[in-house]
Amino acid sequence: MEIFEHIAPLQEKIKDYRNRDISIGFVPTMGALHAGHLSLVKCSKKQNDITVVSIFVNPDQFNDKDDFINYPKTLDTDLQMLRQVSCDNVFIPGEKEIYPEPDNRTFNFNGLDTIMEGKFRPGHFNGVAKIVVRLFDIVKPHRSYFGYKDFQQLVIIRHVINQLKIPVEIVSCPIIREENGLAMSSRNLRLNKAERTLASNISKVLFHVRDHCHQFASVGAVKEYVLHQLSDIHHIEVEYFDIVDEKDLQPATSLRSPAGKVGCIAAWIGGVRLIDNVNINL
Ligand code: PAJ
Repeated sequence: MEIFEHIAPLQEKIKDYRNRDISIGFVPTMGALHAGHLSLVKCSKKQNDITVVSIFVNPDQFNDKDDFINYPKTLDTDLQMLRQVSCDNVFIPGEKEIYPEPDNRTFNFNGLDTIMEGKFRPGHFNGVAKIVVRLFDIVKPHRSYFGYKDFQQLVIIRHVINQLKIPVEIVSCPIIREENGLAMSSRNLRLNKAERTLASNISKVLFHVRDHCHQFASVGAVKEYVLHQLSDIHHIEVEYFDIVDEKDLQPATSLRSPAGKVGCIAAWIGGVRLIDNVNINL
């Protein structure tokens, strides 16, 4: 596994791959890797000749300074895990390497960023779009892999790629969960054992809604159920629960419509903000 800290040698390598018609799969991450990240790497390895993973904790996408400062950093273990899944190239740039000059670009997300994560984390998606576009420009992948865990991010990245006509195929991969159902997340490292157990209630409620959605009269009834179930649990504070269209994130008005729907939640436990989602279809 080759590790690159600088853009120039990585680009040399990429140029060589491209000249030899070698297909490049790319998995952007912020490190503190877990089985969810590795599932993207494994998927990329199946579909491409070589796989590049980037590890960069992008300051621009953190609207909360403390969240950035406290974001777990586990580089040695990350590299070990990537070696174990036979990742080919890892890109670990410093901030100056990525942004030698401040990048003040703003993106037009056509309103996709005004709800859910975008509403509660102003500027977050602009930061995400900036870094992803920058990384695509450096790595020039044929395909790039994103988790359904960050569902709104996935939809927004597809939108940006279409808007800017960037020739990358975006591949989405399913959410990988702990045995108790908790969606794997780097932020779970900041939960203690009791909080992790508590956090599994989030997915339990989502799974109930997914499996019994025919029993609910309306979107409002589902929302009420989710908020009520979780508000009864001490130490869990729900920030939002919304049911949206899978393609354009428009709020769902009916559970009976044929369009694919996703129930998305953000909740706080012990000062840690967690997100999760499920597909809700009759
Ligand atoms: P990060 O949170 O490190 O996640 C990197 C990728 O792993 C994302 O595509 C995310 O959706 C996916 N992922 C995280 N947890 C997962 C899980 N439990 N199952 C499946 N996939 C999972 O998302 C980011 O970083 C950043 O915003 C980034 C795109 C790298 C831009 O900075």
